[in-house]
Amino acid sequence: MTADGPPTTAPADRAAVLCGLGHWLPPTVVTNEELSSRLDTSEEWIRSRTGISTRHLAGPNTATSDLAVEAGARALKSAGGGEVQALVLATTTPDHPCPATAPDVAARLGMTGIAAFDVSAVCTGFLYGLATAAGLIAAGTAERVLLIAAETFSTLLDPQDRTTVPIFGDGAGAVVLRRGSAEEPGAIGPVVLGSDGGRRELIAVDAGGSRRRADGPADTAPDGYFRMRGREVFRQAVERMGEASRSAVAAAGWSLETVDRLVAHQANARITSFVASELDIPTARCVHNIGRVGNTAAASIPLLLSQAAQDGTLTPGHRVLMTAFGGGLTWGATTLVWPGPDLG
Ligand code: UT7
Repeated sequence: MTADGPPTTAPADRAAVLCGLGHWLPPTVVTNEELSSRLDTSEEWIRSRTGISTRHLAGPNTATSDLAVEAGARALKSAGGGEVQALVLATTTPDHPCPATAPDVAARLGMTGIAAFDVSAVCTGFLYGLATAAGLIAAGTAERVLLIAAETFSTLLDPQDRTTVPIFGDGAGAVVLRRGSAEEPGAIGPVVLGSDGGRRELIAVDAGGSRRRADGPADTAPDGYFRMRGREVFRQAVERMGEASRSAVAAAGWSLETVDRLVAHQANARITSFVASELDIPTARCVHNIGRVGNTAAASIPLLLSQAAQDGTLTPGHRVLMTAFGGGLTWGATTLVWPGPDLG
């Protein structure tokens, strides 16, 4: 406390603590068999190469904000209501190029007036958002933050592209973070983040931004679609999530043997297995939902947390390691001890 200014608080008392959790999936479920009937692929190829059996897809009248509002409302309810001073939305698929989608989501949740903005880090978006939200709390800008990660990734895909359509699904997950102590369960550990723009070509949508304009002469339909160099991305994902996980565990003062649950971005079941093996984390400690929802990009980790809390895969006291990798390239990892039973 200063003599004549406002009270100052030690950083340890301005940690971000998880206190609310929710998710939402659009109701339409598409099976591998359905995709195989219109694409040059097979149920067996998709399941064996990715671990995916079904995914949820948003219909033509559903935008990212619609999923975000549903997930955000559930997270706020799980947190017992109350005010938040900021809404951070992690997404690769905003409703519009301008403005950001977060202010609209905040207004529809009845929170006009609060800080609201988007974070764009593709599949690492939730972890970038987590670091941002924790920073808002540490800086004194907010006491409580709603962080939503929502995607309608299907809107980026070439419907004829068998290399991307089977992989991605739509969905949203959300968390509420409150100011608390770094020592209490639910406190977000140090967040390790990284990027490599030199490899941006591995995951990209070429057209529609300022470099290649949507109405410019170079624009052709395929350039507006998402593309990915899968095999190289796979290799980078395993390497980067492994490295980031080691750094986050060390920064938290943990050791890898004490990790109870690995919550890795659900890109491919084989990628999660390789990361776990690289870290010597037993397969039984890996949390999965990719079989049911596919790769939901930024939404992947909070969606998985929310479902795992509901089905009892995550229980109070579990030491949880989260890691993600995505376009940019971007990657990250962080830790938390799973908080009380009233979440999810
Ligand atoms: O979310 C973060 C970023 N994303 C990721 O981390 C995803 C990382 N990458 C992957 O998960 C995998 O690379 C994929 C699932 C995308 C692809 O699996 P793969 O085992 O790496 O396959 P591949 O790209 O090396 O292709 C192997 C073969 C190719 O045929 P040829 O050239 O060997 O004759 C592909 O044309 O499989 C073919 N193929 C398919 N065949 C049937 C590719 N997609 C399909 C398909 N059905 N859907």
